[in-house]
Amino acid sequence: MVSLNSVTISQRNKQILNDINFRVNPGEFVFLIGRTGSGKSSLIKVLYGEIPIDEGNGNIVGFDLKNLNKNKIHLLRRKIGIVFQDFKLLQDMTIFENMNFVLKATGWTNKIKIKERINSVLKLASIDTPQEKYPFELSGGEKQRVAIARALLNDPKLIIADEPTGNLDPETSESIMELLKKLNENGITILMATHDYNMIVKFPGKIFKCEKGEIFEVITKRY
Ligand SMILES: Nc1ncnc2c1ncn2[C@@H]1O[C@H](COP(=O)(O)OP(=O)(O)OP(=O)(O)O)[C@@H](O)[C@H]1O
Ligand SMILES: [Mg+2]
Repeated sequence: MVSLNSVTISQRNKQILNDINFRVNPGEFVFLIGRTGSGKSSLIKVLYGEIPIDEGNGNIVGFDLKNLNKNKIHLLRRKIGIVFQDFKLLQDMTIFENMNFVLKATGWTNKIKIKERINSVLKLASIDTPQEKYPFELSGGEKQRVAIARALLNDPKLIIADEPTGNLDPETSESIMELLKKLNENGITILMATHDYNMIVKFPGKIFKCEKGEIFEVITKRY
């Protein structure tokens, strides 16, 4: 699903991750941990084509990251669902309009099919809030559910989430994790960066740690 071979990643000419090897296999739930500034977000940005690979080779859902044509990045982003800490919903649009915006941008035209698809992802993300509501009328947890529903619109095989629970209280965080877990059980591969140690203790998954420019798998005992 994702493979990076001897990859070096920089931000403004400063090397962040050096000669790393990283793999996510289909069906896995993978946590990416590490201190602030260790390169988690940088790695995630490489995966959705926001920053280029300096050295090495990478592949994500069949796209070659080394030779990613700028005009093709939107095709890659259609194949993966991306979720952020700050939700990134469009503030002047309702839940329905936020969803509709994405579907229109990705070529959907049939109004009935659009409605069906929106209803279906909102149901999958267990959202019972009216679709006419605006983001400012929602709690943090509801906003993240809507953001996850939006990430599901184009039926991704992989969801990449950068600190999806970073702005949420512990209880809400856990319900968002339950949702991601459910999606994973439905066959969607999940890669999520997190600071939240409680989550990796509570929810099973492979753990990779970014540290001192490297990335390695961590084996922990769970209780
Ligand atoms: N846009 C940018 N321009 C220049 N340097 C950046 C940029 N974004 C991040 N960096 C630097 O890259 C390094 C890695 O940052 P990154 O955001 O990947 O870390 P992180 O592990 O996601 O941290 P956090 O846990 O705080 O989110 C840091 O030293 C940071 O200062
Ligand atoms: Mg980060």
